[in-house]
Amino acid sequence: MEQKDLISKINNLKKEKNAIVLAHTYQNLEIDEIADFSGDSLYLSRQAAKTDADVIVFAGVYFMAETAKILSPQKKVLLPSLSAGCDMADKINLLQLRDFKSKYPDIPVVCYVNSAAEVKSESDICCTSANAVNVVKSLNSPKVLFVPDKNLGSYVESQLDGVEVITYPGYCPIHHNITVGDIKRQKILHPDAGIMIHPECTKEVTALADFVGSTTAIIKAVKESSLKKFIIVTEKGVVDRLRRDCQDKEFVLINDNAVCKSMKLFHLEDIYRSLLNNEYEVNVDETIAQKARFAINRMINVNAN
Ligand code: 13P
Ligand code: SF4
Repeated sequence: MEQKDLISKINNLKKEKNAIVLAHTYQNLEIDEIADFSGDSLYLSRQAAKTDADVIVFAGVYFMAETAKILSPQKKVLLPSLSAGCDMADKINLLQLRDFKSKYPDIPVVCYVNSAAEVKSESDICCTSANAVNVVKSLNSPKVLFVPDKNLGSYVESQLDGVEVITYPGYCPIHHNITVGDIKRQKILHPDAGIMIHPECTKEVTALADFVGSTTAIIKAVKESSLKKFIIVTEKGVVDRLRRDCQDKEFVLINDNAVCKSMKLFHLEDIYRSLLNNEYEVNVDETIAQKARFAINRMINVNAN
């Protein structure tokens, strides 16, 4: 089927089923053609919380669809493939969280949304990369436990005076494997470029940034900058969107490995199939969802950005 026919079939199905498509910034660019909202995890969870749609198709990974279901339990939430997982979220389960908490009793737990619903359900508050610093600040606690991303946790600690962030040893392999050497090499090749880094990178890498932020924050900062060239230190989807939206500027992806396979699983055909056949419905046990909802809503209510 030609792309324009597929787009029109998807749009018809969206109307018929009162459905919306939420697309993360790392998705294949074609998904934006039919997405109602595209952006970072925080933006998408806010849209999931306030939509009037009956069906949400999540073009993202499993934890994002789960978050949408937790926030909109009465809606049908679809993920076009159940193999769209997240290597970082898989690094901690409920037993590992309990074990970590038992080593540091009475310290509040901040849980990055890149985690399973049951991990969120035993955390005090969630955060995304866009609001992690504000979320930790909002707790007014001299110590916090931070799961599962040790890199985001260390970045948060570097931004706050007098807060100790005790991190669980999880990470996103795509961001964690970006090295100081990668940045230095690109900086030599492109000395006039701004360096835009996602906080899932190590603290040695983020220390070299001109700007650190979520995917949406990086795109916004590039658009507002007077610079003409940027080294983008996150997943390739951000570079694809910047090349589409800012044709007067030049973008260098930090290295060829900065591609999240799970985020690249979906094409327009998958969104069509998902809407047509209600594939695959994501559900969360209501007891877990209730507790996780508290932690996610507490985050949404923090005055971020
Ligand atoms: P943001 O959407 O918060 O920028 O995070 C990136 C990410 O890795 C999502 O999986
Ligand atoms: Fe998970 Fe990393 Fe992929 Fe984001 S980029 S979905 S953190 S594996």
